[in-house]
This record gives sequence, structure tokens and C-alpha cells, in this order.
Amino acid sequence: MKVALGVSGGIAAYKAAELVRIFQERGLDVQVVMTRSACEFVTPLTFAALSGHSVISEMFGRHPGQANLESAIEHIEVAQSIQALIIAPATADLMAKLAHGLGDDFLTTLALATPAPLIVCPAMNVGMWDNAATRSNVALLRKRGVRIVEPDEGYLACGMTGPGRLASTDAIARQVFETLGLREDLKGETVLVTAGPTCEDIDPVRFLSNRSSGKMGYAVAEAGLRRAARVILVSGPTALAPPSGVELQQVRSAEEMEKAVLARLKEASVVVMAAAVADYRPAKTGARKMKKSDTPRQLILKPTPDILKSISKSISNRRTSQLRRKPLIVGFAAETDHLVQNARAKLNSKGLDMIVANDVTRPDSGFDADTNRVTFVFPNGKPRVLEPMSKQDVANRILDEVVRLRSKNRS
Ligand code: CTP
Repeated sequence: MKVALGVSGGIAAYKAAELVRIFQERGLDVQVVMTRSACEFVTPLTFAALSGHSVISEMFGRHPGQANLESAIEHIEVAQSIQALIIAPATADLMAKLAHGLGDDFLTTLALATPAPLIVCPAMNVGMWDNAATRSNVALLRKRGVRIVEPDEGYLACGMTGPGRLASTDAIARQVFETLGLREDLKGETVLVTAGPTCEDIDPVRFLSNRSSGKMGYAVAEAGLRRAARVILVSGPTALAPPSGVELQQVRSAEEMEKAVLARLKEASVVVMAAAVADYRPAKTGARKMKKSDTPRQLILKPTPDILKSISKSISNRRTSQLRRKPLIVGFAAETDHLVQNARAKLNSKGLDMIVANDVTRPDSGFDADTNRVTFVFPNGKPRVLEPMSKQDVANRILDEVVRLRSKNRS
């Protein structure tokens, strides 16, 4: 989910840096847009480093007379791709432009062009805030559905006291998350997610692996962040960008994944094991590249550790004093036949609270697909067959079950 953060030229511009971090912690991808005067207060480099995207501050590229088509229509592209435009701080001048439909720079044209909700967080001197023109601009913006996060009262940079100070980052974040419809039902939970394949090296050049893309596990990690969980992502090699805000631990082999998961297990209140862990690895990894020959060659394979079984063992070995609360454990079952029967057998043998079964032979399901068609299987009760849906939606449905099982365990 992408949002744009507009920064206009006021002392409070530096506080917008904190907002970037707060938004990222909830899995939002933030594009920062600065007005020219904002660049006098904070350098675009600060925001670029924090957000991971270069900051947009000019309408037609950096050098006059050298605009190209991309730069001329960039505001439309950003306008269409964002779910909200937040302007913090918004100066009196910027609000006047917004109220009267002026579009003389990137931020104001973006505000005119975007269908996304607009959240304006004013910050200015008390006299400017109380000025009749500003009051009427605020009223006009409100009437049009713009959400205004009222400034706080207090000591202002100009030495005066009164309303005008940028609202607290908490108040701004609350308004943004509410506007985006982000739930907070995993607040206080730490979700440990595994994702992607593992690679088992044969020699420095070759390895054994599988077709997992990591999309399902990354979708669970991102959905967890959006629902206010702390997320630890232990990932095998994938081509995906990790959602900003996750604590990422990259691993390669099943053994490395087991080590990483067991090391972080005591922090987790929920474990979602979406990784496609290799079941075997070469008994020996060659230090040099294996040379070819004309004779057939056999590769001796050794089983890898079953990570879910190690998790269950580690939990049952915990001394009572160490037992805070048993994490809820969700596994996946990739099957080609007897879906529910095989999934139930895995659920029982691995000691899980729930298993997400999918038939990997279907084109709308399993490896590398953007959609998934899954069945939830629980220790008791009937399996629940879900209609085909995006991996993001599957991720949210899994987390809905996590929330349900958590509250059932508590009562
Ligand atoms: N899993 C694991 N450690 C392994 C293999 C799998 O923790 N060495 C986990 C997977 O992350 C998944 C679940 O166990 O959550 C089931 O994985 P799956 O590949 O479907 O089953 P396997 O246990 O490997 O059994 P099989 O390959 O025989 O179907």
C-alpha cells in the first residue's frame, strides 16, 4: 500500500521524518513530495534515505528547459498509485492553494489530480492560524471532505504561545491509519513468518531448491505489519523486496532457517511457517566445483531438520518459568493429492494450531501464482474451503483466524 507524504516549508518539516518511520512500521510504502521551501528546512536526502525513494520536489525535472515526458506526467502516475496523500506540515500558503485549486508545483498538482483521500496537518504561527483567510480556507477544505488534523496548542518556534504547533505524530498516524482502514487487531503480537525456498548447496556453483517465490510469506508479513503486529521475517532467497518495517533475517539453507527461527522463537507469540523448506540436502557440499565426467553420478542426500517439529519440541522443552505463553503455530501444506487428509496428518504430526493447505497442481494456486486457493484445517472441526483470492487476501484471512484462535485461547 503506497501513500504520498507532502512536506511544505515550515519549521515542523523535520517532524515529517518521524512520520515516514511510523508509516513504514505499518507496512506502508512512502513517496515523499517536498515543496521548494520545504527543501530550505530539511534536505531531500534525509527523506530519500528514510523512505528508500528519491524525493519529488520539482515539477519538470531538475533543470529548466530539460523536462521530458516522464517528468511532465509523473504527478498523474503518483496520483493514481497512492491510497492517501498526507500533507504534514501544511503551511497557510499551501492550504490557501489547496482551497482554491491552484496547481503551481508538484505537490499542489498532485493534490488536484489524486482521487485518494487528502489529510492535511497544518502548522504555523498562531496569528496565521487565527487569520480569517486561513479559517475560511480550512472550513472550505473540510466541506470538501479533506481531513484536517488540528494543530496542537503550545509554545511555537516564533516565541508565541497558542494553537499552531503541528499535531503529534501519534494523532496524525491515527488519522492516517483510520482513513486507510488499517486494523489494529494484532497490536502487541510478535509474528514470526518464514518465507521462500531454501537452497541446499551441492558445490559453490550448484544447489537443490524448489519453485517457491516467497510471495505468500511476504504477504503474511506485510498484512501483519498493517494490523499493527511486530513482524520478524526469516526468508530464504527470493527476488522480493521485504516490506519496510519488518525485521528481516535472510537465510539460505534449511539448517540456517532452523537456527534463525529457534533463536527468535521466544520473542514470537504467533509463528506462520510459509517457507517451502527443502526436505533433503546433499550429504556433502563440495568445496570446489564438481567436474563433469561421462559416467553417471549419484548424489547422496540427507534429510534436513523439520523446523516445525523442532519448534514444537523447543516449546515442550521449555521450563514452566520460561513459558510466557505458547505461541500459536500455523503451518502450510503443499499437496498434489488427498489435500485435506495429507494436511491433517501434517497438522497432527507437527503439533500445529492450524494448517493452510493448497493444491500446488492448480494454476490459480501455489508456487509463483499471484492468487491462491486454500483450505484451512484445524485440529477439531470441519475444514474451511476458501474461494480463489489474491495472496494478500489469503494472508488477511489467515490472520483473521489467528485473531479468532487467540481470543478463544484467552477466554
Ligand atoms: N516444514 C518444516 N521443515 C521442513 C519441511 C517443511 O518446517 N524440513 C514446514 C513447512 O514450512 C510447512 C509444513 O512444514 O509449513 C509442511 O511442509 P510441506 O513441504 O507441505 O510438507 P513436508 O513436511 O515437507 O512433507 P512432504 O514433503 O512429505 O509433503
